[in-house]
Amino acid sequence: MALAKRSFDAVVVGAGGAGLRAALQLSESGLSVAVLSKVFPTRSHTVAAQGGIGAALGNMDEDSWLWHMYDTVKGSDWLGDQDAIEFMCREAPKLVYELEHFGMPFDRNENGTVYQRPFGGHSQNFGERPVQRSCCAADRTGHAMLHTLYQRNVRAHTQFFVEWMALDLVRDSSGQVLGVTALEMETGEVMILNARATLFATGGAGRIFWSTTNAFICTGDGLGMAARAGIPLEDMEFWQFHPTGVAGAGVLITEGVRGEGGYLLNKNGERFMERYAPNLKDLASRDIVSRAMATEIKEGRGAGPHGDYLLLKLDHLGPEVIDKRLPGIREISKKFANIDPVKDPIPVVPTVHYMMGGIPANYLGEVVVPQGGNPEAVVPGFYAAGECACASVHGANRLGTNSLTDLLVFGKAAAESMIKFLKENPGRKDLPKDAAERTLSRLARLDNQKNGESVAEVATEMRRTMQSHCGVFRFPDTLAEGVKKIRGIADRASRTQIKDKSRVFNTARLEALELDNLVEVARASMVSAEARKESRGAHDRSDQYKDGDRLEYKPVHMKPLTARTIEPKVRTY
Ligand code: FUM
Repeated sequence: MALAKRSFDAVVVGAGGAGLRAALQLSESGLSVAVLSKVFPTRSHTVAAQGGIGAALGNMDEDSWLWHMYDTVKGSDWLGDQDAIEFMCREAPKLVYELEHFGMPFDRNENGTVYQRPFGGHSQNFGERPVQRSCCAADRTGHAMLHTLYQRNVRAHTQFFVEWMALDLVRDSSGQVLGVTALEMETGEVMILNARATLFATGGAGRIFWSTTNAFICTGDGLGMAARAGIPLEDMEFWQFHPTGVAGAGVLITEGVRGEGGYLLNKNGERFMERYAPNLKDLASRDIVSRAMATEIKEGRGAGPHGDYLLLKLDHLGPEVIDKRLPGIREISKKFANIDPVKDPIPVVPTVHYMMGGIPANYLGEVVVPQGGNPEAVVPGFYAAGECACASVHGANRLGTNSLTDLLVFGKAAAESMIKFLKENPGRKDLPKDAAERTLSRLARLDNQKNGESVAEVATEMRRTMQSHCGVFRFPDTLAEGVKKIRGIADRASRTQIKDKSRVFNTARLEALELDNLVEVARASMVSAEARKESRGAHDRSDQYKDGDRLEYKPVHMKPLTARTIEPKVRTY
């Protein structure tokens, strides 16, 4: 069956921060750009980012991109690529000023400069003392950023395909990417969106876990599409547990609470982080704080009737500070925890928040895959940025605020690489005859499957398995068992059945298609976690300690672009 086709210079999949920043660059350079999004762009998951953007503006204290780089390399547990990290930290201030000039409503200091708050692992002078580096708009930074970028894109005439889901990557026999197949949710129509250059900015995949701060849309669509098209995923064992998700609800409570002076307590009222990170305490990096919290709970010092959460105290900040700097947190606490943080502490637990791994990319946003003896051959016409990409700036653990920095810097860099590629390759290649084959057979399976299981049942089992076998602390036997289970679940996912075969706004059909992506991510994560026989960053194995050599599947780029290499050393906070 032949599908209808529409052609563009560039197709961007995803309208979060990375997608919108890239689309803006592409549209402003005069190219025809299509942006596909499962939701209205300003509802993309970037909207949920709270605490700020990491950039060494130096508005509060002396700061430098080199210190930001050091903190990021140390935060990554020396698994981040230092060329990409240098690039990100150097570019970050420019990108923040650019947003300011686009009209982003940042919080302000008395002198009119952008207000910056402290965040975990950010320091002055190579770890000497905390620094205020997070550029924020109260605790709604992502919301402010997304609206600013969306409005700029409207001005630049970017063409949005709202409530469209990309289904599969289109590649020709040489491996070049020529666009995607996609489904319009309202009508159920499937089309080929042919592109001379394609960017994936599809965000994260936290929905492979039972408890996550991620929205329902974070189903790893870009990773699923890439994996099905033969592109290997990188660093998938590294999942960040944010220390403060609302217990029982998963909703994010920004690290900005601790940045503004809040702190964690156990059931005895003890400020336990003093024992785990004597220097930075509650502002140590996230893997360390989450492990400390899990240890407190495991050792019987958790609060609440079941001893399964900890308490985030901020009443001492007073209602003025809370209402000015953390108004969203007060609202979330009332709605999801039934407490007012002006009076009572918030019940919190480490909650899955961010995927450090993803589609392998270099610091120019080009997708790289080993080929013909070249470990980092570029896939022509294919780019990735933001959480779905692994530019390898976060290594084994991301610093708070660097997600927004990443998506701005690499969204723009990827767009610049695409513009260059399009100039150097002015023609449009023919689509292969089988361009839509993978998609058509997935859709046919859903139409014809008999005696299959329900999507919801298989998805539930996947989430429970990921949560119990691949958590904050990992054990060799449960990982090995997890691999077997996830392989079985992936097999079952390929035989799910939907009752309603209608094509018109059929959310059951969408969930089945999303499950194809989720299982790719879950399987890659579990298999990688079982295979990595060391404890590093967010990957903590009970049978492995950190004093051995670093395990590298792909050599880490230890050579920055211009700076001196930041050599590995003991990682304490
Ligand atoms: O805690 C937060 O506001 C989250 C920030 C981040 O993930 O970078």
